[in-house]
Amino acid sequence: MRRYYLWTIGCQMNDADAASIARGLCDLGFAPTTDPREADLVVLITCVVRQSAEDKVIGRLSSLKHLKRTRPQAAIAVMGCFVGDEAALRELYPYVDAFVKPSDISGLLQFAQQRAGAQRVPAESIGSPAPSVLASVPISYGCDHHCTYCIVRLRRGGHVSRPLPEVVEEVRGWMARGAREVTLLGQNVDAYGHDLGPGAPDLADLLAAVHSIDGLWRIRFLTAHPAEMSDTLIRSVASLPRVCPHFELPVQAGDDEVLQRMGRHYTVAHYRELVERIRAWVPGCSIATDVIVGFPGESAAQFQATYDLVAGMRFDAVHIAKYSPRPGTPAARLADDVPPEEKERRRMALEQLQTRIAAEIHVAYLGQTVEILVEERQRGRWKGRTVNNRLVFFEDPADWRGRLAHVRIEQTGAWSMRGSLVG
Ligand code: SAH
Ligand code: F3S
Repeated sequence: MRRYYLWTIGCQMNDADAASIARGLCDLGFAPTTDPREADLVVLITCVVRQSAEDKVIGRLSSLKHLKRTRPQAAIAVMGCFVGDEAALRELYPYVDAFVKPSDISGLLQFAQQRAGAQRVPAESIGSPAPSVLASVPISYGCDHHCTYCIVRLRRGGHVSRPLPEVVEEVRGWMARGAREVTLLGQNVDAYGHDLGPGAPDLADLLAAVHSIDGLWRIRFLTAHPAEMSDTLIRSVASLPRVCPHFELPVQAGDDEVLQRMGRHYTVAHYRELVERIRAWVPGCSIATDVIVGFPGESAAQFQATYDLVAGMRFDAVHIAKYSPRPGTPAARLADDVPPEEKERRRMALEQLQTRIAAEIHVAYLGQTVEILVEERQRGRWKGRTVNNRLVFFEDPADWRGRLAHVRIEQTGAWSMRGSLVG
């Protein structure tokens, strides 16, 4: 039996690629292992969005050098946004057998088949990976925006939408294997279909098409771009019952001058107005955002504007990142002039603010009964989420995996809530 070891870091697109690769390798007759020392094939799915992620990838790669010395027959494949200039990478990491472009799943599987001499065997004969309640399906690759700090689009290329029938088929496949919720993924999901020619379906059409799939209870999508989110899309979220009232809408900064230098193509006023419209049309929805602190030239007053925006908007979640210069991006040519300790101070200030806001939002749920889709067991408790993405835990001896549970909230914190089963 051939074994593979799979390591993933980074965004949900990488997680989705990992799940598809696990399935594909399984079909090729590989079984998973959690110990790279006993693997015939090691696959790293990588991220370089910030230096901290890249450092972890480099650390992993260095540890594999030793592995390759002791087990030369093991094949090593590196995939994801770390894979830029391949000639340079081959020189730096001669012990890596293949560098595979981000999301090139068939490229990776082809390599596995050739190099490891795997033979196609029916998946049933070795048992497929445990079905997951949640599935993620990419609907587009790459991005046509030019955010000046972003390396993702440099590594993943321009925006390419997958044909609608192909997406629907893949979602159907995951649901047939027991998934109940799908997240449709793209760097910029609201641009879906724009590259497919005149009259092509857009994201609203895709949501409608996916909506009728058997066994599918919940649909999410991410990430949206504030300059591109259409009224049609907001209306479909409001009207399609299985589409979750949850938006991932990165604002990045609360100051127009900084937004302009980031190449974001909207103003703070536009963003505020968009959020107001979403909240009016989709009552009870949750909105999560991304913020970068310490972008080149960000003054104390400009950071304060971001702080005030986060305080005023009362987001349900804020993913905060310290600016990290990325090679080849336009922003990397600007002086990275906010000192590290000041970046950390700004990050902490925002995090404390958001922790307080999230805790306040959760407290309002005390005594209420919510419906959650149960995903898995974690440290002795069942874990699930509400349609608007709130994390809920409860205890029960029965098997709740993949079922809808009604939970009365008894305890709340900033990141999750706890309660007990009702009925
Ligand atoms: N289109 C995707 C972007 C992926 S990058 C999206 O909108 O989600 C994910 C997040 O990482 C971005 O929203 C941004 O907040 C953060 N990020 C990207 N490049 C960064 C950089 N150079 N330094 C710090 N954070 C960065
Ligand atoms: Fe990057 Fe901006 Fe696209 S963050 S992936 S260039 S929307």
